[in-house]
Amino acid sequence: MQDLLILGIESSCDETAAAVVRGGREVLSSAVISQIAQHRPYGGVVPEIASRGHVEAFPAVVSEAMANAGAGWGDLDAIAVTYGPGLVSSLLVGLSGARALGQAVGKPVWGVNHMEGHLAGMFLDPATPPPEELCPAVVLLVSGGHSYVVEMRAAGDYRLLGQTIDDAAGECLDKGANLLGLGYPGGPAIERAAAGGDPAYVRFPRGMEHSKARTTEDGLDLAYCFSFSGLKTSLLQRLRTHPDDLPAHLADLAASYQEAVMESLAKRADRALKATGARTLACVGGVAKNHVLRAKLEAIARRRRAVLRLAPLAYCTDNAAMIAAAAGLRARAGLPNPPALEADPSLPLVEEPVQ
Ligand code: KG4
Ligand code: ZN
Repeated sequence: MQDLLILGIESSCDETAAAVVRGGREVLSSAVISQIAQHRPYGGVVPEIASRGHVEAFPAVVSEAMANAGAGWGDLDAIAVTYGPGLVSSLLVGLSGARALGQAVGKPVWGVNHMEGHLAGMFLDPATPPPEELCPAVVLLVSGGHSYVVEMRAAGDYRLLGQTIDDAAGECLDKGANLLGLGYPGGPAIERAAAGGDPAYVRFPRGMEHSKARTTEDGLDLAYCFSFSGLKTSLLQRLRTHPDDLPAHLADLAASYQEAVMESLAKRADRALKATGARTLACVGGVAKNHVLRAKLEAIARRRRAVLRLAPLAYCTDNAAMIAAAAGLRARAGLPNPPALEADPSLPLVEEPVQ
């Protein structure tokens, strides 16, 4: 078991980040430069703006992370960088920067799967036991780009139980917020607008409630899968047929929409917890910041006598501490970290669903 000192680098979407983490758990520094303001006028991430932003922000985040960690280049054991999934032009900035640094300071450069990074986020809470004590766990991995139900069996050992068949949960919130005129990013905007609103004002559809098919083409059980595209269409219809709803019922609509997303997520997590008998339920990724979701998962965990583990709020949305943590946890478990060679924009978390 090795407690390595790792500089993590993340640039897969619209956050440029660097962090220094020891042993996959202890964050010595974490710097994030978000481009949200640059993308806001377009209602979403514009790839060209994102990659240029990463080029500009890269030197500053790396210097800040190294200075705040109080570590010298010679103290590092390795540099860990996200190599996928994500926007290829954004990934390439982090990868080439990390490789140039590695060469300059004579350190190995490892590639980290961004999804595995999100999973590692929960271990950045000092109260979370290490993977060998925590696993098996059911983890809801919910971000702007992905929605997965994962069974974590050990560090580096994941079984995909379910995923979205269309939009990701965060994407659904971002699109819904756009329709409600709430701006980007949609998740926090909807959460704010929903305060005091009635979540039962409109019963928006919960995707795949009545699905007859049992498995997806990839062999995943639909009981653990999500569908969010109908929800967005349903909000659009509602706004067309009830033009007086806005602005009078903005809070009620936001609360109802948020409720539909979070209930769908919570239901799949509950089913997976029941089916696997895992004693730990966890939630990571940007949408894990949501307090309605957190409360629902808390209730499920209590009912199923499981413990709920959440990534700390600062490490739910994209950051580099989780990337360094993923590499550090693999090293602690004696697993190899691959050399960072090429960007892989559609890198899966697991090669194929294993039964
Ligand atoms: O993990 P993340 O930073 O990026 C991806 O890997 O995709 O997640 C970003 C997503 C966005 O869709 C954003 O709307 C959502 O996380 N999000 C939230 C909240 N804060 C961020 N969703 C719901 N409630 C929040 N408070
Ligand atoms: Zn992410």
